[in-house]
Amino acid sequence: MKNNYLILVNQEQPLPRFFQPGQLILGRDNVYLEEQTHLKLMALLNEIDGQQSIRLVNGFRSIEEQQLLYDTSVKEFGMTYTKKYVAKPLCSEHHTGLAVDLTTSLANETHLISPEFDWQKNKLVQLFLTKMSDFGFIQRYPEGKEHLTGISYEPWHFRYVGRQHSKKMQALDLCLEEYVLQLGAGVQ
Ligand code: DAL
Ligand code: ZN
Repeated sequence: MKNNYLILVNQEQPLPRFFQPGQLILGRDNVYLEEQTHLKLMALLNEIDGQQSIRLVNGFRSIEEQQLLYDTSVKEFGMTYTKKYVAKPLCSEHHTGLAVDLTTSLANETHLISPEFDWQKNKLVQLFLTKMSDFGFIQRYPEGKEHLTGISYEPWHFRYVGRQHSKKMQALDLCLEEYVLQLGAGVQ
């Protein structure tokens, strides 16, 4: 695909069955990310001196991997939890390679669905949140916007949209659903 860094993927807007992500790069921690997303994330981690203390947990996931994660989550944690934190296959922006889950836990058995990335406990996370929009990242599932995103607050999940958009979204306090809607309505 031609990279569309503003692509909106959610339960109401699933990807087409044969969706092709942009160029994927195998980066740190064995995680695949779209090229630009990887580049900007590494630059951000370098900027805050976070390469040692922040790990990548999930990046690109295939439809089959998402299905497996969804089914495993239903079995292990039940449907209520799964609906809050795991998108159905084709409805996950992890298929685009533009989304990344991060953790400050360096344990091997880090939770795959809800990894620890807690700004209240960790100063580096605070720094990450302060700087992320300069590098084109947004917090994709913020607290208070659950009714719009359809997903519970996920402090660990970040989405690359490009700096031009991340700065505006932050300034206007808009989640991606709101921002895309406003752009469609001609508000820039
Ligand atoms: N955790 C996010 C919502 C996903 O599964 O894509
Ligand atoms: Zn995620």
